[in-house]
Amino acid sequence: MQRKPLCWGVGQSVTSRTKDKSVNNHRPAWAPSEVDIEKPSAARMYDYFLGGSHNFESNRELAEKYIEVLPDMPVIAQAQRTVLHRAVRFLATAGIDQFLDLGSGIPTAGAVHEVAREINPEARVAYVDSDPVAFAHTTAMLDDLDGVGTVYSDLRDPDSVLTNPVTAETLDLSRPVAVLMIAVLHFVPDQDDPADVVTAYRAATAPGSYLAITHATSDYRPELARRAEAVYTGASHPISYRGREQILAMLAGYELVAPGLTDMIRWRPDPQADPDPLGGDVTRYSGYAAVGRRY
Ligand SMILES: C[S@@+](CC[C@H](N)C(=O)[O-])C[C@H]1O[C@@H](n2cnc3c(N)ncnc32)[C@H](O)[C@@H]1O
Repeated sequence: MQRKPLCWGVGQSVTSRTKDKSVNNHRPAWAPSEVDIEKPSAARMYDYFLGGSHNFESNRELAEKYIEVLPDMPVIAQAQRTVLHRAVRFLATAGIDQFLDLGSGIPTAGAVHEVAREINPEARVAYVDSDPVAFAHTTAMLDDLDGVGTVYSDLRDPDSVLTNPVTAETLDLSRPVAVLMIAVLHFVPDQDDPADVVTAYRAATAPGSYLAITHATSDYRPELARRAEAVYTGASHPISYRGREQILAMLAGYELVAPGLTDMIRWRPDPQADPDPLGGDVTRYSGYAAVGRRY
């Protein structure tokens, strides 16, 4: 049995999560053959944090270790999803009708095209992920939709993402586009120069394009951040909690819309729609968000 989806506002806690050891690392029918089911992946651990069912025992075990260090992680993951939704609504309202979702993850409720199309039914989205399960599920669920494309690529190689035929078919990069990097830049290690990666996407997009990010921070609880990073060394992508100045440096060339780079739950919150189980304690969310306009 999989963990039940964590629902906002119903008081479900981490301790109510269910784990069934009988569901082990056997390859389910939906798992692409190239997937190493023994190697925990960032995408499938995130799926577990969000209460999804596209993960294996290896993912669940490492995710549980992470939760031992950071019990708030399921709530943080949901909060990141609500920031994504707020940012997409903001961008669609600002006139953006095409989105490049980098590190898009395993599909879950409130996908980018669904949220954007509530405002502009013509909105187009290219979903990009390097995880084979994320790619396979995104393709299976969304690929038949007009104006939606799925790309199996590593975002650290902007050329291959941007010249991928699916990207080119889905998006017109001569017009403004929103580049979304939600909960993914912390999976780009320092040696791959995340600021440089962001700059490459900025350079490839038209003036008037936007960038939206969230990023885990070590600013509030550095010791906890180091322990959390240590857990992820066993996963497909290491995680790097970073300080505000390092994250700000990734936003060079963008004019940040109000309120700038801020604690993610303070980025244009919608108190009616976005529950806050951690009582506004930004130290427990430990993540920043920003949206910027390319000049
Ligand atoms: C924490 S999940 C976030 C998913 C989604 N952006 C969201 O906010 O719900 C991070 C995702 O980024 C993907 N990812 C990490 N590094 C990547 C890379 N270098 N290229 C493409 N995808 C990557 C992972 O596979 C995973 O699906």
